[in-house]
Amino acid sequence: MNDPAGFVASAVDRLRTELPGPAIVAASGGIDSTIAAVLAQRAVGDRAHAVFVDTGFLRAGEVERVAELFRACGLRHELVRAGPRFFGALAGVADPEEKRRRIGAEFVRRFEEEAARVGGDRLVQGTIAPDWIESGGGARATIKTHHNVGGLPPTHLTIVEPLRDLYKDEVRAVATFLGVPSPERQPFPGPGLAVRVEGPVTEERIRRVRVANAIVEEEIDRAVGAGKLPRPWQYFAVLLASRTVGVTGDNRVHGDAVVVRVVESTDAMTATALAVPAALLRTISERITRELSGAVVRVLYDVTDKPPATIEWE
Ligand code: XMP
Repeated sequence: MNDPAGFVASAVDRLRTELPGPAIVAASGGIDSTIAAVLAQRAVGDRAHAVFVDTGFLRAGEVERVAELFRACGLRHELVRAGPRFFGALAGVADPEEKRRRIGAEFVRRFEEEAARVGGDRLVQGTIAPDWIESGGGARATIKTHHNVGGLPPTHLTIVEPLRDLYKDEVRAVATFLGVPSPERQPFPGPGLAVRVEGPVTEERIRRVRVANAIVEEEIDRAVGAGKLPRPWQYFAVLLASRTVGVTGDNRVHGDAVVVRVVESTDAMTATALAVPAALLRTISERITRELSGAVVRVLYDVTDKPPATIEWE
């Protein structure tokens, strides 16, 4: 991005035309939708209503972190607590594409409700280029249905996407220009922890992956802070579907396995698995199996690049 100022000026201009009345902005707290929301409020002020949905699939402390981020950006927003609706929608669903479709449907219903409340018919999203490229369309094969693009169910709302031609590094340049804090914040998928739990989603399985994920984030952040590691692009935990044998005391127990994934990337189109120091992996493994004692008995590290693997497991 050579000219973030020029991009912002033309995006704001276009949004003034595209948002003639009240609009909802789907704000996840991620960098893309935060920038989209900042641009929309710059363009039309209070007519742009940023809506943050607590799906129940958020990371530890996320609601508070996002509220703090929005405050720092001067973004006014509405928090919609919808955990029970999302868990209900996913009951018994194991297929990742079906999970994304159902989550997409729940999001859209919540946004439609909010739009009805403010009397608007526009929905602003922070979709960026890799989202729609990987969701298929035109001659491209569908790699996966991103919940915010290919997975979007029919809606009467008109979708407005001010960032759809940008790649992640360009969004970050715009964020820096706009003074949005922490532009190095790692990407987090819209469907959240639901796609970091392989197979069926339950409150307990989400709790387990949330605890494991918080440990991965804390330990990697600590190592980055101590200068032992450059800040990776993404670092997270995945709860596997298969059960595995472990020992606690004298007993053999069946428990879960957690995969730790730490990748370097510039635009998420390709990625390299990072060579995390063995001592750090050991610390992460010890903490996960201790803090989820009896529930998680095995920790694995994913050494696969993208391609052939994707960054997420689902
Ligand atoms: P993959 O797993 O396809 O991920 O290599 C590429 C980037 O996209 C993020 N991701 C998603 N983001 N909805 C999103 O908003 C999704 O359904 C989704 N799936 C993957 C992923 O975290 C990575 O940064």
